[in-house]
Amino acid sequence: MSDPAAVPTLDLAVLDQIVAAALAEIAAAGDLADLDAARVAALGKKGSVTEQMKLLGSLAPDQRKAAGAAINQAKDRVAAALDARKLVLEAEALSARLAAETVDLSLPAPAVQVGRLHPISQTIDEIVEIFGEMGFSLAEGPDIEDDFHNFTALNFPPGHPAREMHDTFYLSAAEGAERPVLRTHTSPVQIRTMQSVPPPIRVIIPGRTFRSDSDQTHTPMFHQVEGLVIDEATHMGHLKGCLIEFVKAFFELDVLPVRFRPSFFPFTEPSAEMDIGCSRKGGELKLGDGGDWLEILGCGMVHPNVIRNCGLDPQRYQGFAFGMGIERIAMLKYGIPDLRTFFDSDVRWLTHYGFLPFDVPSLVTGATNGGAR
Ligand code: PHE
Repeated sequence: MSDPAAVPTLDLAVLDQIVAAALAEIAAAGDLADLDAARVAALGKKGSVTEQMKLLGSLAPDQRKAAGAAINQAKDRVAAALDARKLVLEAEALSARLAAETVDLSLPAPAVQVGRLHPISQTIDEIVEIFGEMGFSLAEGPDIEDDFHNFTALNFPPGHPAREMHDTFYLSAAEGAERPVLRTHTSPVQIRTMQSVPPPIRVIIPGRTFRSDSDQTHTPMFHQVEGLVIDEATHMGHLKGCLIEFVKAFFELDVLPVRFRPSFFPFTEPSAEMDIGCSRKGGELKLGDGGDWLEILGCGMVHPNVIRNCGLDPQRYQGFAFGMGIERIAMLKYGIPDLRTFFDSDVRWLTHYGFLPFDVPSLVTGATNGGAR
């Protein structure tokens, strides 16, 4: 007779105890680290359930199938309990984190707000907002231009004296190559726009411009904003109406006389300069109906040569353009006396003339409503 102890059997009662112990440990796990420890204790390399699996090899062949099935079932129960507990613990961890990370949105903002928008940025935002309401979209171009876009395509023939009027900064170039220029006005973006977008075109183009000139009213770098409208029907009346509406909205004046004086630009025909009414009584400049005039921008109907240079048919397309200095109209609107101070980077100046970042210009509230100044 053989010794029954010599042929091991699977003790189902022991297996049940192992499973019960593992399930209890899983249920008691308070966090994901505890749960992992419970997993290793049951299903790890030396885990309690794994050890039972190792017994299989020593069982009598006729017992192995039933024993294997029992152990697999035990393993599945433990694994399912681990998965379920994991979901619960993860959800608890997330809620705890969300509760800990709440932000009290009702807290008041700090009483002293630091940081100001430069008046140039603010003025650009205001201009874009006003023309945006009229259906213009924003366009931009590079600061470094070639002769074609800055001059030739704009109907400045080579050697034309108007080129000299611009005090152009030239960059150096390789032998025989054309020298790039720092754009002397934003008008080259008229060309870039007409070359890339089919009419109808309605764009407003703010940006930096450069001329070799420096005194109380000129800085070598300054800003302009260009406007361009090209379609099949726009005429000088539209140009006037559009600019009259703009100056009234920008300067926030219901009554603001304007006049258009004939002028010359190679890229517009006819060309005009626009003046707005002001008074200079007592040495103080005040915008409005005061009997005096102040020039603020250049404009005109886009010259047929310019339209042709951009590959469009001037018999079919026409429109207007205008350009103005941003510093100049910012100085007028906000009473800033010296142009050069715009570029001094003096924090005291910026604190005085700058704008709160949340003071977003709008036609409804006005540009400076609730502002810092
Ligand atoms: N580019 C011109 C200047 O810098 C301004 C202008 C733009 C005039 C568009 C007419 C039309 O002086």
